[in-house]
Order: sequence, then C-alpha cells, then structure tokens
Amino acid sequence: MRIGLIGYGNISRTLMKLLSDELAAPLSSLTVLSLPEFAETTRQQLAEEGKKVAGELTVVDNGEEFLRASFDLVIECAGHSAVSAYVPEFLSRGTDTIIVSIGALADQELETRLRKAAETGGGQIILPAGAIGGVDILSALRPTGLTSVTYRGRKPPVAWSGTPAEDILDLPNVKEAVVFFKGNARDAAQQYPKNANVAATLALAGLGFEATKVELVADPQAPGNVHEYHVESPVANYRIEIENKPSAGNAKTSVTTVYSVLRAVMNRIQPVVI
Ligand SMILES: NC(=O)c1ccc[n+]([C@@H]2O[C@H](COP(=O)([O-])OP(=O)(O)OC[C@H]3O[C@@H](n4cnc5c(N)ncnc54)[C@H](O)[C@@H]3O)[C@@H](O)[C@H]2O)c1
Repeated sequence: MRIGLIGYGNISRTLMKLLSDELAAPLSSLTVLSLPEFAETTRQQLAEEGKKVAGELTVVDNGEEFLRASFDLVIECAGHSAVSAYVPEFLSRGTDTIIVSIGALADQELETRLRKAAETGGGQIILPAGAIGGVDILSALRPTGLTSVTYRGRKPPVAWSGTPAEDILDLPNVKEAVVFFKGNARDAAQQYPKNANVAATLALAGLGFEATKVELVADPQAPGNVHEYHVESPVANYRIEIENKPSAGNAKTSVTTVYSVLRAVMNRIQPVVI
C-alpha cells in the first residue's frame, strides 16, 4: 500500500510508532508532505520513526509535487487549510482520504466541495471517530430518525484559555462548573475552532451541524478533557462519557485520536474490518 501523509506533527509521529508495532509487513511506500521550514527535521525524524513502517520513505515540501503523486490512501493530519488545499484533488482522482481535522467540515463551502469531489471522482472521505467514541452506533441509528443529539465538552477553566470563553469568564477564578456556550454544532465549531473536531464529528455522524446541540463547560472539578453526549432515537437511547488523556506531543490532542486513525488505517489492511 502507498500512503500519502499530510503533516508530520504530534498525530503523525505517534501514528508511526503505533504502525511500527501493528503492521505485519511494511507498507510499500510512505510519502510525507511537510511545510518547507520543517522538511529537514521531518526527514530526520521520519528516517528513524518510519523505518519499520514502509520500504520507501519520502518527504516532500512542495504541495504541487505531492499532488502529482499517486497513493492508495491519503491521511490528512495537518489542519483546516491542508484539508482545503489537498483533499478535494485526491478525492476527485478516486483516492480515499482519511481526514483527521474534521472540524474543517464545519465550513459549509468546504464540506460541499469535498462531497462533490468524492461523488464525482469516487474517492471516499473517511472520518475517524477521533477523540470521541460511540460514533458507530450514532451513525447506524441515523436512518431510524434520531430525535436528539446533545454534546457537552467539559474541561478545567484554564484549558479554555485562548478561546472566546476568556471574554465571558474570569477563567482562573471560576470556582464551580459554568456552561459558557449553548448552541448548535456549527456555531460551536466556528466560535471554538480549537475544539471543533468533536462537535463536527457528532454532527456529521448524526443530526447535522444545525440540529446537534452543544454545551461547553468550564469545570474546576473536570479531571481533564471530558466529552459527554447523549442520543435519543425511536429504537435506542444512549449516553457516553469519555475522560481523555492529553497526548504528550500536543496537550490539545487526546491520545484516543491517534488510536482511531490507526484503526482506520489497519481496517484497510487487515482481513477483518471492525
Ligand atoms: N478528529 C479529532 O477528534 C481530532 C482530535 C485532535 C486533533 N485533531 C486535528 O488533527 C490535526 C493534527 O493534530 P496534531 O495534534 O498532529 O497537530 P500538530 O500541530 O502537532 O501537527 C500538525 C502538523 O501539520 C503540519 N502542517 C500544517 N499545515 C500543513 C500543510 N499545509 N502542509 C504540510 N504540513 C502542514 C504542521 O507543520 C505540523 O507539523 C489538527 O487539525 C487537529 O485539530 C482532530
């Protein structure tokens, strides 16, 4: 299998370690697209970290060159602008693409462009569950006529620093749990882009961006980054709560995210898909 990987930050580098352990045989090739300023470091890191992952390892720092290459699978682990710049082209050429920066799809124009490229070109948009879980049952229940999906993101107050919550609350002095945002998934993803991935994933799996309800909470008792949501449908209701540990390389990224990307890759390689 030939994989094209966009971005070589926290998720990609951890993914290399996990693939080294999980792959029964190396991939035929792995090509990483890096920003030019990080290309040399990426080359050194990949030579070490990727040696058990693929027979041929290449780092490209030119987007046009990356777009000219052929892959069996592309994995985006870079951010909103990379989704927009590269993913539609690969989809329109029939290349299946895993998008990790799912919050990018809260941009309606970009979501439409991606869907059109996939429909016309035949490449599939693969959205891993990322930091959240239970997306299988949410997506499975959609045809039953879901009646409600409500997500609550709860973190210690200081973890909301650098977001509009700072203008609403005196974060260091919050003494009890406060809901500072209540709205739909579209508004949540756009106003809190650093926290957009989970709201967007639930919206895309379930009721869509407008009907998915979101609450964001600053809670001094929160043990970390806690994702809770509940789903109501005519055939089943469920509730899920996940206490995520931050990853060592990027405190904003929950470790579970990398494992869900690993699962998406392994499901394309292994004889059993689960
Ligand atoms: N789906 C989820 O639940 C979920 C959870 C966590 C993170 N994410 C998303 O995954 C993405 C990656 O997260 P991370 O923790 O690895 O971030 P990171 O900042 O550690 O790594 C991103 C890497 O991409 C590179 N990059 C950025 N733009 C690029 C471009 N145009 N071309 C090539 N390289 C580029 C950066 O240099 C960096 O090395 C982020 O967009 C983040 O929001 C999704």
